[in-house]
Amino acid sequence: MEYYSHYKIDSWSDGEIMSSDKINFSGQVVLVVGAASGIGRSTAELIQSRGGTVVLADFDNSGLASLQKKLGLGDSHVKNVNLGDQSSVQALITSVISDHSQIDALINTVGVTGPTNTKTEEMEWAAFERTVTINLFGTIWLTQAVLPHMKAEKYGRIAHVTSIAGKEGNPGMHAYNTSKSGMIGFIKGVAKEVATEGITINALAPAVIRTPMNTVTSGETLKYMLDRIPMGRVGEAEEAAEMLAFMASSACSFTTGFTFDASGGRATY
Ligand SMILES: NC(=O)c1ccc[n+]([C@@H]2O[C@H](COP(=O)([O-])OP(=O)(O)OC[C@H]3O[C@@H](n4cnc5c(N)ncnc54)[C@H](O)[C@@H]3O)[C@@H](O)[C@H]2O)c1
Repeated sequence: MEYYSHYKIDSWSDGEIMSSDKINFSGQVVLVVGAASGIGRSTAELIQSRGGTVVLADFDNSGLASLQKKLGLGDSHVKNVNLGDQSSVQALITSVISDHSQIDALINTVGVTGPTNTKTEEMEWAAFERTVTINLFGTIWLTQAVLPHMKAEKYGRIAHVTSIAGKEGNPGMHAYNTSKSGMIGFIKGVAKEVATEGITINALAPAVIRTPMNTVTSGETLKYMLDRIPMGRVGEAEEAAEMLAFMASSACSFTTGFTFDASGGRATY
């Protein structure tokens, strides 16, 4: 009894202070890949507002420049990368380590939709391959490149954005579904491999979020997805950012290999 009351006083009162500290990023370098737009942009803004040193990466230089200006960042905080090119991904990680010495958290929000509303037998291979290369291989290459640095620090947080499409599959989006479910499987295995090394790696699976990405989704596919959201609305980039900020923080210490949901109730698993 005494033990419990002692535990309560020390852990609960400290715990409350600690939990607000744990979502603060002071002293941490957080690399946000896909930061030029949408979910990545909102996440970078949120992490900086919570004290983090953010490094923005994307292949859209004008999107990067506008966020750089908004956040008042120096040039060493802005990196061009093509996630469809392994050497570009490796160069990104090398460059961030060289400029900032560490990467405490990696958040990867890059994603391309690829073909939508396409029958299996009509899939065009180059478009399929491009989608899988950027979404899935890009995720793998980023993880491979950052892990040695996190292992050396015995600390790291990795958060990749997958999709409801990777859990449930959207008709006509075969390349996207394949890439996003591949990410989920990859992340589960890596999580177990590094579980004792202070590193967590998780995924976020949003349903429809209001970002520029959906401007290229066909009306039919968009209706299919919206009809399945019990909350009856699209999500906002800021809502996804909140989840990613948690996954990238030291507060996310006992969950790894998991796919968090952000689907307005569509996926309750
Ligand atoms: N918006 C949604 O409804 C939704 C739903 C489920 C999952 N997602 C996922 O969320 C993530 C973020 O999407 P978003 O909605 O913010 O989209 P977005 O298009 O606004 O942002 C994606 C970013 O990725 C960058 N990018 C694309 N290809 C790249 C490449 N080869 N190299 C480097 N950068 C590249 C783009 O320039 C852009 O800044 C994606 O992984 C997407 O699949 C989005």
